[in-house]
Amino acid sequence: MNTDIPYLSDKVTLRNGVGLIVAMDRNRGIGLNNQLPWRIKADMQRFKAITTSFPGVNAVLMGRKTFDSIGKPLPNRINYVLTSTPEKFNSSENEAKQLFFVDKDGANRIVESFCGIMRQKGKLWLIGGESVYRDFITYADDIHITFVRGNFETDCKFPEFDFSNWSWRESMLHTTENGIRYVFANFDNYRNSTYPLNKEKSFEEFFDKVCG
Ligand SMILES: NC(=O)c1ccc[n+]([C@@H]2O[C@H](COP(=O)([O-])OP(=O)(O)OC[C@H]3O[C@@H](n4cnc5c(N)ncnc54)[C@H](OP(=O)(O)O)[C@@H]3O)[C@@H](O)[C@H]2O)c1
Repeated sequence: MNTDIPYLSDKVTLRNGVGLIVAMDRNRGIGLNNQLPWRIKADMQRFKAITTSFPGVNAVLMGRKTFDSIGKPLPNRINYVLTSTPEKFNSSENEAKQLFFVDKDGANRIVESFCGIMRQKGKLWLIGGESVYRDFITYADDIHITFVRGNFETDCKFPEFDFSNWSWRESMLHTTENGIRYVFANFDNYRNSTYPLNKEKSFEEFFDKVCG
């Protein structure tokens, strides 16, 4: 384990490519009224630690609504924001803040530049919301999920995905904050994994297994 940054194993920090990070409840809910449905400080800390963990370039790709909800570019990361109107937002001032708005074609090119043999020396993190997860999950090499116990009121969801393509590498910190129980868990795509693939048939079944 990396001792400087909790929540990370060395394997996470050393691999190039595309990672995905999300917090979701048992219904796969991720947001409400363009905010997170919960407030878990340790989850925010984990998000920051993971999305700055690569020892080189760290970049994030997010939807325009997620960017609005964050309100500013994330420091120490290149920020790519998916929008249908990038020309409305791009400026030299934003560029100086490492903030770039891209349309779907641009986002595809960015994601692909972090994959494959000729990939950039860096890591791209898919950080939501729903549209980014849905459109790009197939590129992810590793997924970092915070399972938030319970069924919250939400208006957007993580997409349904095939759990059998993923192996559950580790779970950490079963704990409670503000009365909310949550578990951090890491998964590898079958392309990279030496761990057994998940056997559970449904997300709910898996959620219950991880959350105990
Ligand atoms: N729990 C978590 O881990 C987590 C993580 C991130 C976000 N969230 C939550 O998720 C919610 C926001 O997510 P969301 O799904 O509503 O929105 P989103 O995915 O963040 O952003 C949607 C926007 O992305 C752009 N977009 C999407 N598909 C596109 C395409 N094919 N081509 C061009 N542009 C495209 C559009 O921007 P334009 O309208 O500008 O064209 C669209 O309005 C918030 O509640 C946030 O708090 C939760």
